[in-house]
Amino acid sequence: MSDTKPRILVTEPIPESVITYLSSFGEVTVGQKGKYISEAHLIQDVSAFHAVLSMLSNPITENVLRAGSNLKVCANFAVGYNNIDVVAARKLGIKVANTPNVLTEACGDFAMALLMASSRNFYKAEKYLRDGNFNGWEPLGFLGPELRGKKLGIIGMGRIGQAFAKRAVAFGMEIQYFNRNRLSNELERELGATFISSVNEIASSSDVLSLNCPLSSETHHLVDEQLLKIMPKHALLINISRGPVVDEEALANALHAGEIGGAGLDVFEKEPIVHANLLTAPNCTMVPHIASATFETREAIGMLAAEAIKKVLAGEPDSNIPNLIN
Ligand code: DGY
Repeated sequence: MSDTKPRILVTEPIPESVITYLSSFGEVTVGQKGKYISEAHLIQDVSAFHAVLSMLSNPITENVLRAGSNLKVCANFAVGYNNIDVVAARKLGIKVANTPNVLTEACGDFAMALLMASSRNFYKAEKYLRDGNFNGWEPLGFLGPELRGKKLGIIGMGRIGQAFAKRAVAFGMEIQYFNRNRLSNELERELGATFISSVNEIASSSDVLSLNCPLSSETHHLVDEQLLKIMPKHALLINISRGPVVDEEALANALHAGEIGGAGLDVFEKEPIVHANLLTAPNCTMVPHIASATFETREAIGMLAAEAIKKVLAGEPDSNIPNLIN
């Protein structure tokens, strides 16, 4: 334990370059993979640290923050920060940072990839081939809808929603969106996007419904049994935002009953647990929360979080740290 260097907990292994950077101004401890998914482990260990570089899988609750008697800053390795009790952090004078901008393009790419994989049956077809079932080209095998001319409804038209829209336009899709605030006329024109003023309307009129909104009390279970019922029978649901935006049980039921065409999911309600009925649901493409998983982006995320930690620990004014939440 050094007297001069602040102690920093990085809760999971992250790119080595970020650890090297953090080590240039702090004494770094890297948590064992998965250990700090547990609130109890965080509570037990956090008081030894001045800063935490946390993952979206770490519950940074009021209890954890209270236990962090030396804690000055918690920087989340993610743009979403629903895992952190920001209100409690504010009360306790602990700064919170996230990582906007640096993962926008990777997530825009990934939303497109997940849409392609879901609409064109990538995983089912790949499994079929690996299982030794490919016995020749089949005119009726693995048919899926073309994207050209289809309506993509985006709920949450922030940076990532817009990045997805730009890519989808290149595939010939028509873009409509629902957002708390309407975009400027100029941006709507640039994206070719039409504003829809209600969630029900966008759900009932989209061939693909994409969730790109943050998780909050307003968006929790935004996609529920009732909304799934008003989606067209052929519609696909794409979710790269946060799992609890969707009532997973209702989605599994809708997929099993053929009430919607399919789903592409990167995120889950109770990660890392995936609802058992989703695992058996037809037309459901699932990956383990990897939308931002490119070498470049994961390094940029780490560096942005590390930079916020450095600045807070150095006592820099908040105005110098654009990615502070509080
Ligand atoms: C985020 O940064 O919030 C994403 O979910 C990471 O993939």
